[in-house]
Amino acid sequence: MMRRGYRSPPTRTRGASASRVRLADVTALDAVSIITTKRDGGELSDAQIDWVVDGFTHGVVADEQMSALAMAIVWRGMTRRETARWTTAMIASGRRMDFTDLPRPTVDKHSTGGVGDKITLPLAPLVAACGAAVPQLSGRGLGHTGGTLDKLEAIPGWQADVPVPRMRELLADPAVGAVVCAAGADLAPADKRLYALRDVTGTVESIPLIASSIMSKKIAEGTAALVLDVKVGAGAFLKTLDGARELATAMVELGTDAGVRTVALLTAMDTPLGRTAGNALEVAESVEVLAGGGPADVVELTITLAREMVTLAGIDVDPADVLADGRAMDHWRAMVRAQGGDPDAALPTAKHTEVVRADRAGVLTRLDAMGVGIAAWRLGAGRARQGDPVQAGAGIEMHVKPGDFVSEGQPLLTLHTDTPDAFAGAAAAVDDAITVGEPDGKPAAPLLLGRIGA
Ligand code: URA
Repeated sequence: MMRRGYRSPPTRTRGASASRVRLADVTALDAVSIITTKRDGGELSDAQIDWVVDGFTHGVVADEQMSALAMAIVWRGMTRRETARWTTAMIASGRRMDFTDLPRPTVDKHSTGGVGDKITLPLAPLVAACGAAVPQLSGRGLGHTGGTLDKLEAIPGWQADVPVPRMRELLADPAVGAVVCAAGADLAPADKRLYALRDVTGTVESIPLIASSIMSKKIAEGTAALVLDVKVGAGAFLKTLDGARELATAMVELGTDAGVRTVALLTAMDTPLGRTAGNALEVAESVEVLAGGGPADVVELTITLAREMVTLAGIDVDPADVLADGRAMDHWRAMVRAQGGDPDAALPTAKHTEVVRADRAGVLTRLDAMGVGIAAWRLGAGRARQGDPVQAGAGIEMHVKPGDFVSEGQPLLTLHTDTPDAFAGAAAAVDDAITVGEPDGKPAAPLLLGRIGA
């Protein structure tokens, strides 16, 4: 394939002196005109979008120019056409994987991220056990939400890097059928560079940029169908239902336009999912779910997402039956082994624990996901910067959930860490996250808040 060049469109000349303009000057001028078009509320053409994303990928459009364009997009937005073209250009910056020759239908899930969100761990083997292939390229955590790879890396021996031919073999294997692994450097590399810039230039908060960033990676991953779990609430990226619905709609449109059957569920993230936040703690809880137990909210969300996934994959099986009869657990064990892990090995535990107790009797009316996420992060379960190490055993066990009665002095949480200096900061974060009061008479908030289908 020929690489696209960096020649500017013919309208961009500088009169008599144009022949002496150096390539660098011309490309700088093009980037500037694209930035100013968007800054002034204009719509970018397909050619401008292709050019600027390609130029950025190859170092012709400078970081400061892309940052300025990202800020203009934050303020001015992008139309559906622009967002779709931007996504296509991001995919084209790398390699698009293709699993159409697999003997089973492919389907994947993406969550926008929440505290205690370990759902991928029971979900991927469950959906594989239903007969689908689940190719999940995942990331590591940053900030208060954990990363799926960090969680799985708590399992002794488990490896996140799987070469593509091996991934294909495992997806085709009826005893495995699911691979959760690190995305290669060639998967939407323009997004990788742009996301790093957005992170440090205050330009993450833009629906078209978030939607195109997430969907470029999911479409490039080669799945035929996709279920999006868009989190809403205090511990989520998006705090309001309207914002989450807008993002979900944009992502469903992008997936559908790219030929990926896509559905989005809007789910609550005001309080953490399940009873644990932290890498090894969440693996242990996921194994409980696969063994037929586990917290009710984790089981409910796993089955709800699995039903959407198998329906999109065209498989007529109820995942609740497959979870109940142990087939999902068999796939989990095979999946962990296939990536070098030992499903029977003891999980790492933290060196130190501290218990947080109720300072009065009453009802737990609030356990704020953001506060718990920050506390788990301070204990060492998360990282502040890309590349920082995480502690496998660090995190928080939650002994009560909102709506539970508590007595004075009753243990509410156990904090786990290898670094006891972290207790003070974590305790301060959870102190602000907990409210024990009088029963408020409100029914428990539902987990599922909406669904957006193609
Ligand atoms: N996650 C992504 O992958 N991209 C964004 O822009 C935001 C969250």
